[in-house]
Amino acid sequence: MKGPLILSLLSICNAWWCTGHMLGAYIAQVELMQKYPSIYNTVQSILGPLNGDLTGNIANTLTETSCWADDLKVNKFNEANTLHYIDKPYNPQGLSIDPTPTDNIVWAISNFNNTLIASVTAPLEKSLALRFLVHFFGDIHQPLHDTTLFSYSFPNSDYGGNSFKIVYDENVNNLHKLWDSAIGMLETDLPRPLSSSSWETLDQLAQWYTGNYTREDLRYELQSKSLTSWTLDAYMLAIDYVYNGIEVGQTPSPEYVALARQIVMKQITLSGYRLTDYLVSALTPFTQVELYY
Ligand SMILES: *[C@@H]1O[C@H](CO)[C@@H](O)[C@H](O)[C@H]1NC(C)=O
Ligand SMILES: *[C@@H]1O[C@H](CO)[C@@H](O)[C@H](O)[C@H]1NC(C)=O
Repeated sequence: MKGPLILSLLSICNAWWCTGHMLGAYIAQVELMQKYPSIYNTVQSILGPLNGDLTGNIANTLTETSCWADDLKVNKFNEANTLHYIDKPYNPQGLSIDPTPTDNIVWAISNFNNTLIASVTAPLEKSLALRFLVHFFGDIHQPLHDTTLFSYSFPNSDYGGNSFKIVYDENVNNLHKLWDSAIGMLETDLPRPLSSSSWETLDQLAQWYTGNYTREDLRYELQSKSLTSWTLDAYMLAIDYVYNGIEVGQTPSPEYVALARQIVMKQITLSGYRLTDYLVSALTPFTQVELYY
């Protein structure tokens, strides 16, 4: 059931678990270093002021800081929790339900985008904005950060799959955790700061993921820059692949697992490419673009 790179460690994160976040960010980090080194330098200089002790010595690179918004929760800072998702109701039985909260991940990304690109922002705010953005670019691609099920069994919703109990393994006992763990593929949180062997693990995974889903394969998805359409795409994936073919209390079938792993691989890879494209467009100085074109 588990690949050779997967160990069994308990994870306390509740978004793509840390390795999934780092994999998406690593894909972006490598693309920036290879194709846009000056943007990569800008990223590092924005991270700089909050590196080291200020972020617990575990968030010193674009890759490692992708888990920082979840580190906040571990550190009892829960004020930003609602910003990690936009749970659009999947309501096949037509129950009467409350409207979706507006302080959601789409709102958060657009506002942190404003902070990141503002010319007057102080280093603290810019660094925080970038760190949140890297994380939210991952979360928005996890279908259960875009969807919540309402039904007779879940009249108050299943909280993005968190209340939807399933049987999988000792760490994964609900649908949300199943998808956060990349369907068991990325269940182990690689310790940060990353060791050289953990960087190699990420590099191997990134090669597999980007090999299975190249930019060319995803060219259609990459044309869309609308956060709302990204969340709708993920919502459709939730209906077709997350909630389809599994009932409460079941163990996911091999068919479910195989399909779901493809979806996860695609979504994490897409999050990496989109993060690259976003950072290039956000951090290319406007005046410079005008001068050069
Ligand atoms: C960031 O803001 C710029 C300028 O308003 C806008 O063109 C761009 O679409 C925004 N990007 C995101 C991801 O919100
Ligand atoms: C696709 O991913 C699998 C691991 O899930 C890997 O074994 C395979 O080599 C990858 N394919 C490519 C073309 O990279």
